[in-house]
Amino acid sequence: MWLYLAAFVGLYYLMRWYRERQVVSNLRDKYVFITGCDSGFGNVLARQLDLRGLRVLAACLTEKGAELLRNQTSDRLETVILDVTKTDSIAVATQWVKERVGDRGLWGLVNNAGISVPTAPNEWLTKQDFMKILNVNLLGVIEVTLSLLPLVRKARGRVVNVASVLGRVSLYGGGYCISKYGVEAFSDSLRREISHFGVKVAIIEPGYFKTAVTDAEMISRTFREIWDRASPEVKEVYGEKFLVSSMKMIELMKKQCTQNLSLVTDCMEHALTACHPRTRYSAGWDAKFIYLPLSYMPTFLVDAMISWGSPRPAKAL
Ligand SMILES: NC(=O)c1ccc[n+]([C@@H]2O[C@H](COP(=O)([O-])OP(=O)(O)OC[C@H]3O[C@@H](n4cnc5c(N)ncnc54)[C@H](OP(=O)(O)O)[C@@H]3O)[C@@H](O)[C@H]2O)c1
Repeated sequence: MWLYLAAFVGLYYLMRWYRERQVVSNLRDKYVFITGCDSGFGNVLARQLDLRGLRVLAACLTEKGAELLRNQTSDRLETVILDVTKTDSIAVATQWVKERVGDRGLWGLVNNAGISVPTAPNEWLTKQDFMKILNVNLLGVIEVTLSLLPLVRKARGRVVNVASVLGRVSLYGGGYCISKYGVEAFSDSLRREISHFGVKVAIIEPGYFKTAVTDAEMISRTFREIWDRASPEVKEVYGEKFLVSSMKMIELMKKQCTQNLSLVTDCMEHALTACHPRTRYSAGWDAKFIYLPLSYMPTFLVDAMISWGSPRPAKAL
């Protein structure tokens, strides 16, 4: 019985491995547009796809980031300046892409640009704090996608959206987790609608990786700024000890971060180049062995575990 089961599982993985190895043809003629290429995953992916021979259209937030990227890549890679929070900037970038791809359409759109601060307990934050993150991580993804979708449909291509394990488990307050849950929801509905036209949508769910969005100094600094401007009532009920413990936890996150960004960019590359891409990719050991299982557990258990591992406010009951 166990032998049959092992053989069945083995066969399943063998078939899956074979199916997932098949690569689309004519990669050198395919255009891929990536947002947020100044640093982190976007930057590594742009260089990786350029080496693989694809035609990379890299969107950077700054001219400095664009210039650095161009200096490290082949002449085939082109850059454009894009702020995903600005409708005008998206329109200009869309026209720029249109002129390059022509009748072939756009094979790949990678919505990667993102920010992680301000992050703090919900009660410490203002509506503007939430909007700051949502504008980049969620509304930016939606507007860029809506603007480029006709070109992706023309190529029967791929949309690859970068969510996070925090789009599965809401670990802390602020706009970040909300934005990533939103990216998951947007991607799911889009996938179902756009599959009719041969377009595939993949979601990347990385764990914690060492990039600018997980920079502990930057997160601690904004956490402290939010605390400093919090109301006297918030300061009283949470207390200085809560702040210190939270800062220690942010510092601990540094140790948890995986250094090898290609664990994420390899997933993105697979989503763009495989004949049969996955719908979701979990990248990193923590994503696979902690956050993914956590997301399937009963809520009361997850609440208890998170509460046990978090600092307690001074006036907690
Ligand atoms: N690192 C992780 O552990 C982790 C985990 C899960 C998900 N993610 C997600 O992965 C994606 C990439 O982040 P990363 O980790 O590679 O960090 P990163 O190095 O900070 O990359 C984010 C990129 O987005 C750009 N950007 C910021 N605001 C923008 C805007 N308004 N318009 C256009 N581009 C903008 C940044 O430009 P500048 O460099 O010029 O600011 C940067 O190039 C994000 O969506 C993030 O949420 C990261």
